[in-house]
Amino acid sequence: MKDLIATTLYGLEALLAEELTGLGAGSVRAHNRAVSFSGDKKMMYRANYHLRTALRILKPLRAFPARNEEDIYKGIRDMAWEGVMGPENTLAVETVLVSSRYKHSGYISQKVKDGIVDRFRDRMGKRPSVDLKDPDVRIHIHLGDTHCNVSLDSSGESLHKRGYRTQAYKAPLNEVLAAGLIRLSGWEPDKRLVNPMCGSGTLAIEAGIIARGLPGGYFRPGFGFQAWKDYEPELFEAIRKERFLREYRDSEIMACDLAFPAIRAAQQNLARAGLLGKIELVKSDFESWQLSPGTGTIIMNPPYGERMEKTDLQALYKNIGDTLKKNFSGYEAWIFSGNPDAMKYVGLKTSRKLALYNGPIRCKYHQYELYDGSRKKFHRDDPV
Ligand SMILES: C[S@@+](CC[C@H](N)C(=O)[O-])C[C@H]1O[C@@H](n2cnc3c(N)ncnc32)[C@H](O)[C@@H]1O
Repeated sequence: MKDLIATTLYGLEALLAEELTGLGAGSVRAHNRAVSFSGDKKMMYRANYHLRTALRILKPLRAFPARNEEDIYKGIRDMAWEGVMGPENTLAVETVLVSSRYKHSGYISQKVKDGIVDRFRDRMGKRPSVDLKDPDVRIHIHLGDTHCNVSLDSSGESLHKRGYRTQAYKAPLNEVLAAGLIRLSGWEPDKRLVNPMCGSGTLAIEAGIIARGLPGGYFRPGFGFQAWKDYEPELFEAIRKERFLREYRDSEIMACDLAFPAIRAAQQNLARAGLLGKIELVKSDFESWQLSPGTGTIIMNPPYGERMEKTDLQALYKNIGDTLKKNFSGYEAWIFSGNPDAMKYVGLKTSRKLALYNGPIRCKYHQYELYDGSRKKFHRDDPV
């Protein structure tokens, strides 16, 4: 059993730890934007293939003391890279700085690359080359004040690139974040899920993939570990053939957007995820969207308003609150937004608020219980 690390987004660590425990990983421990766990090669393949809330699965190789660039170069050159790759392979280095001692992660990545290629040149007279786009081996450096942690990135392209989203409309959510928002809401596939303002459909599609019980990486063309020297195709094939964790359930998932290009993009993405016809996709504004009677969970990610007039944005958020109140009593609603001022105009009582990020934007995920009937439970806080 080796220690492995799954990286994730801020606020999703506990969900990722739960997912890993569900997959059978041992010694699962949540950290800041990462979860460590123990597992063999099979677990590393399974984690890449199944997880929904992980960005990358790292395999730590070595940690050594380093206080400057020279220490890093020497520590890297001393590692037995011949066991990992040959001079015919390509490589890329990504550095995450958690120290103010260093200014540029790109410069550290250069030093690491120099250490590796110099070792090969000295010993074999040939060296691996750099390919930043599609390398055979991705090396991940986590650099603190006193230590340099060196890992191999077994995922290749980040796991949020699921393989189904070829079309994007304005500000699409990261798929890992979308899966996290769905899990945080507590939605289960036997309930109705309503996704107004769906854009390119990421939330609805992630929910559809969960409902079908498909692994997060089901539609991906491949993973980084498949280019490694020790890749075992039969082992990975066996994992692909394992029974899915959950049987298919015919869920009721409904999405709308007022923009035709958004609907067109969502439709193409749904088709790639095998969900066309399984998710109800409607071109409509949220305010006049007519749904069949029922209740369930609403998850929405409205515009944050970077390119909007302030008064239009306030009106949009006020309309969201009014529509939820008028047309969705009995539902539980979740709004994910990076605009706290606009959120005040929703004017409904929040029952929970979770802190997350959308890229660099600080966001809050607000929960509202839209109680049936009783007007007293709606408490309109006038915006200040
Ligand atoms: C931030 S984007 C959603 C992105 C989406 N979560 C994704 O992953 O692609 C917001 C969407 O809200 C839509 N929108 C704005 N006002 C709307 C309204 N009143 N009714 C329906 N859709 C609306 C926009 O067309 C846009 O696609």
